[in-house]
Amino acid sequence: MSIFKDLREEHGDIKQSLKKIIESEGRNDDYEVFSQKLIAHLQGEEKYFYPEIQGVGMTDQAETARKEHQNARQVLMRLQGMNGLEADWQDNLFRLQEILVEHISNEEKEIFSQAEAQLSSGRINDITESYLNLKAAMIGT
Ligand SMILES: [Fe+2]
Repeated sequence: MSIFKDLREEHGDIKQSLKKIIESEGRNDDYEVFSQKLIAHLQGEEKYFYPEIQGVGMTDQAETARKEHQNARQVLMRLQGMNGLEADWQDNLFRLQEILVEHISNEEKEIFSQAEAQLSSGRINDITESYLNLKAAMIGT
């Protein structure tokens, strides 16, 4: 079990889903599924992954990642209050995409490899299990 594989797969899914939503009109079921998955992903990383990397000295990286999540959340909150017909619906989607693409690249190019080198395999297994349990409880997959 490795959290890194799951997180990378989810990142790919998040980017692809958001692209599809941007290309479609307004707010539809795809958006609802996407936002639920994204919220579960953000929460899981914040609860189980960032404290662990902080524990092995990656404090700055955890701090930056949390700030990026906060930025994504702010845009998500704006989107949640919209019906998809507003003039700035699309702009907010683009802003979210910009934040997420940068954040994902930061995690995949820097954080994951460092964390993988620092954390023991037992720890990685525990984090993965906790993360997947939370996700299952939140979105049922
Ligand atoms: Fe993240």
